[in-house]
Amino acid sequence: MLPLLLLSTFSLTSATDPGCIPRHSASLGFHLRVNITSPSDFTPSINLHYLSTAHIGPAQNRAIISPSPGPVFYQNGTYSDITFHTLSILTDAGSPPGVFPEAITYLPDDANNSSAVYINAGLPGSGTSLSRLWDPYSYLTILEGVVESTFVVCNRTIPYYGENKWFNVVNWVQATRDGTGTHIKIPEGCVAVNLIPECAFLEELPEGAYSSHEFAQEVRCYEDVGEIEWWRYSF
Ligand SMILES: *[C@@H]1O[C@H](CO)[C@@H](O)[C@H](O)[C@H]1NC(C)=O
Ligand SMILES: *[C@@H]1O[C@H](CO)[C@@H](O)[C@H](O)[C@H]1NC(C)=O
Ligand SMILES: *[C@@H]1O[C@H](CO)[C@@H](O)[C@H](O)[C@H]1NC(C)=O
Ligand SMILES: *[C@@H]1O[C@H](CO)[C@@H](O)[C@H](O)[C@H]1NC(C)=O
Ligand SMILES: *[C@@H]1O[C@H](CO)[C@@H](O)[C@H](O)[C@H]1NC(C)=O
Repeated sequence: MLPLLLLSTFSLTSATDPGCIPRHSASLGFHLRVNITSPSDFTPSINLHYLSTAHIGPAQNRAIISPSPGPVFYQNGTYSDITFHTLSILTDAGSPPGVFPEAITYLPDDANNSSAVYINAGLPGSGTSLSRLWDPYSYLTILEGVVESTFVVCNRTIPYYGENKWFNVVNWVQATRDGTGTHIKIPEGCVAVNLIPECAFLEELPEGAYSSHEFAQEVRCYEDVGEIEWWRYSF
C-alpha cells in the first residue's frame, strides 16, 4: 500500500508546477478555519470563521464556529500513533489554560446520519488528525474506515441553551451506501466545509498542568488561510 501511495504522490508533484500547492509553514499550535466546499454559503458568510467552543457542561463543549479566533489546537501522538491512526487534536483548557487537555471528538447522531462534534475532556480524540503529507492540502480529517466523509456547519439549537438560540454547530457526515453507490448527503440547513490549520503560537503550560506538550507534533499549517488563492491550485 505504502509504495503505491508514494508513487502516486510523486506522479502528482512531477505533473504540476512545484508552486502549485499553497505555501505552508510548520508550527506546533494552530487555529482551525472554515473553508466552504459546498456551492452555497450562509448569509452572512461563514467562510474563514474559526472552530470554537460552546460550553455545555464541566469540560464539555459543543464544537461551533465563530468569527473570532477560537482555541489554539495541537496534534498529539507518537510516530506509531501516525501509523495506527490514533493521533488526536487537543487544546489546553481550564484556568489557567493547560490545566487539562480537551480533544476534538464526535458522537453519532443516528437520527441525522451524522455525528455531532465536541471538544471534551476525558474522551480520546479517536483518530482525528490533520491530513497526511501526501495530500496536497492540510486540513482536519477523521480516519474512520475508508468511506467518504465531510465536516458540515449547521444552523441548529443546542439543548443546553434552549430552543431560541441558534448556533453554527459543527457535525461530521459520512457517506451512506445504496443501490446506486455511496453518497454524502448534506443535511438541510448545513454547508460542507473543510477545517484548515492556520499557524498559531502554542503557549507554555503552567506549573502543575495535566496537559503535556511532550508529544505535540510539528504540523503543516498556513500563515493566513484567508490569503490562499484556491483557484491557482487544481487538485
Ligand atoms: C477551499 O475552498 C475552495 C472553494 O472556495 C476550493 O476550491 C478548495 O479546494 C478548498 N480547499 C480545501 C482544502 O478544502
Ligand atoms: C498524547 O500522546 C501520547 C503518546 O501516544 C499519549 O500517551 C497521551 O495519552 C496522549 N494524550 C492525550 C491527552 O490523548
Ligand atoms: C439515514 O440513512 C439511511 C440509509 O442510507 C436512510 O434510509 C435514511 O433516510 C437516512 N436518514 C436521514 C434522516 O437522512
Ligand atoms: C437532527 O435533525 C433534526 C431535524 O432536522 C434537528 O432538529 C436536529 O437539530 C438535528 N440534530 C443535529 C445534531 O444536527
Ligand atoms: C437559523 O435558523 C433559524 C430558524 O429557522 C432562523 O431564525 C435563523 O435566522 C437562522 N440563522 C442563520 C444564521 O441562518
